[in-house]
Amino acid sequence: MHKKGILINVDPEEELDVINAIARELGLEAKINLRLAGFPLKHITSPAITTSSEWSKFGIPVQRAKEVIQKVLRFEYLIPNGLMVHLGSQITDIGAYHLVLEELIKLAADADKIGFDVKELNLGGGCGISYLDKAEWNAIKRKISDTSDTTWANELIGYNCNNEWISEELYCSFTPDTFIQKLFNGTYTANRTFKERLEELGLPKIVVEPGRSLVGNAQVTLVRVCHVGTTPSGQNLVHVDAGVNHHSQNIVVPEQLHRMEIANRIDSEANFETFIAGNLCYTGDLLCRIKNTLNGKPKRGDYITIYDTGAYSDFFASNTNSFPRPAKVMVTKTGKDRQVVKRESPFGVFHRDVDWKKLK
Ligand SMILES: Cc1ncc(COP(=O)(O)O)c(C=O)c1O
Repeated sequence: MHKKGILINVDPEEELDVINAIARELGLEAKINLRLAGFPLKHITSPAITTSSEWSKFGIPVQRAKEVIQKVLRFEYLIPNGLMVHLGSQITDIGAYHLVLEELIKLAADADKIGFDVKELNLGGGCGISYLDKAEWNAIKRKISDTSDTTWANELIGYNCNNEWISEELYCSFTPDTFIQKLFNGTYTANRTFKERLEELGLPKIVVEPGRSLVGNAQVTLVRVCHVGTTPSGQNLVHVDAGVNHHSQNIVVPEQLHRMEIANRIDSEANFETFIAGNLCYTGDLLCRIKNTLNGKPKRGDYITIYDTGAYSDFFASNTNSFPRPAKVMVTKTGKDRQVVKRESPFGVFHRDVDWKKLK
């Protein structure tokens, strides 16, 4: 643990006892951060990927933070290191980070006074990316506020019943670089910036854990068109040879929409609005429950590029309906390609099955 430089983000509170007991048994000390949640953050992203608000399955409630900080000091084998929060994913409002950082700074100042030396503030991941440009995304949001024919079965997506947007934003006004600038140059109080306030606190190490913002825009998924038709209700429907097990983000985030394009017809400027269905055996297997716009009407055998699938897209990759999982190919800046994940074989799908006839 401590010898190896391992740092543990503690969540939930009970882990303090568990980690202390293990450290005692090993004759080591454990360096810990407290992971906090329960901040008054409303609708900062999709509810399913909000991990620090009052409705969160993660984190020690921030309301108990002072007590827990004191409690840590009583554990013989724990070395206090800092405070940690992971707000959620696809956070596009810098104000959410400012709210949390302000709270962490206040707590850190109090903690330092009682001997819990806050050497580190960890802000987790969450920096958003753009899936669409601003105008496109705003137009789509306007369109789906009137659900008729724009969402699957006219279901309410992204809005609450008062017509307020309460979900993920697919346009982000900052990049990872400008995110850091906006974060620390933002105004704290009395015209001080967060950077200045952190300097006053002794400049604890600031840690971020970027995920999506590093890889989200770096991948595309290619699917093949199997059939082009309509639903019984007359909606355009394109069936492709991949299901939500290979493009899964919108299982938990229904508003997650990706730009799509017929790959073998990129010069076409036609517009074809359609739902895109996967190849699994249930109707919920839609690559998005919001209509997509393609560059023309596809036909069987065409390829569709799904853009910006580098983060969380094959999160739930599985062998649903016994389909093998696809390969992944890396293309370098200079145009060289290299397979990085092999295509699964039918043997790969069934190799765990037990031949019970051979069992005695
Ligand atoms: C603790 C923690 N840190 C960082 C990340 C990365 O988040 P993102 O991809 O939104 O940057 C995650 C994602 O689940 C996480 O759980």
